[in-house]
Amino acid sequence: MAFPQTRLRRLRRTEALRRLVRETRLSVQNLVYPLFAVPGEGVRKEIASMPGVFNLSVDELVRECREIKKLGLPAVILFGIPETKDELATGAFAEVGIVQRATRALKKEVPELLVITDVCLCEYTSHGHCGKVEKGEIVNDPTLELLAKTALSQARAGADIVAPSDMMDGRVAAIRQALDANGFENTAILSYAAKYASAFYGPFREAAQSAPQFGDRRSHQMDPANAEEALREVGLDIEEGADLIMIKPALPYLDVIRRVRERFDVPVAAYQVSGEYAALQAAARLGWLDLERAMVETATAIQRAGAQIILSYFAKDLARKLAC
Ligand code: PBG
Repeated sequence: MAFPQTRLRRLRRTEALRRLVRETRLSVQNLVYPLFAVPGEGVRKEIASMPGVFNLSVDELVRECREIKKLGLPAVILFGIPETKDELATGAFAEVGIVQRATRALKKEVPELLVITDVCLCEYTSHGHCGKVEKGEIVNDPTLELLAKTALSQARAGADIVAPSDMMDGRVAAIRQALDANGFENTAILSYAAKYASAFYGPFREAAQSAPQFGDRRSHQMDPANAEEALREVGLDIEEGADLIMIKPALPYLDVIRRVRERFDVPVAAYQVSGEYAALQAAARLGWLDLERAMVETATAIQRAGAQIILSYFAKDLARKLAC
């Protein structure tokens, strides 16, 4: 039946009607808040390009996580900025590394909060690359051992989920094997399976001091033009043992989220990355858009596309908003 019998506006007339037929409902239970741990004590330094997001020393991070827990958020993902960086990223897998210390403190002080740890070397290498560099190239296979060591040390510290974001081939299998061989068969792997070489990571690299000193990440992160290839990446990561998979960034890749959700049956996460956050914050500062509405709309779009889990710097604000 068509117009005039059918009038889709009938169900849009009031908020009560709209709420009744709403297809996508955001929930605080599916949100993950990213945090940046730094050395020191009492450090709480705002990241210039990410208003409201801070570099936090472990003590401050614990405080922050108590609040995060109170807001009802189930999980945080930890990134670390080490005291010193070197060629082999030793800070990434040190027992007293920054993420390992933060994880131990959190599992002791806020045990119910899930701790996800980012597994990558770029914050820990002097050259800022995600792996071992030989003759100006990031070498895949020798990097796997370092990644596996990193994930294992994070699991030892108590991480509930390890999340490799490096995009080396074979890292999920290498990590699964290292975890299982050491009695961590219950530590889950969230793989950044389809991670694109994106301009939207700019502010993160300021926050994590992880910009590459030469070249870029295009030899391992995906070409933004490719979606079929994302399905291959996801398929391989699942075969290698990924428990959950992630698409990143989120908003520019909604089609990829949708296709992955339709094709595979593992939980799908999407990361609304630093540049997505910074762009909205900047426009709002200029008075060019309503930040709260844009925040809810983009998160809704990401979920509608098929993401069951959303990692976002808006997670705390969304939690507050969803509570009212
Ligand atoms: C790599 C990593 C990056 C992000 C998450 N993990 C940066 C990169 O690949 O350069 C980006 C997250 C964001 O932009 O919010 N450790």
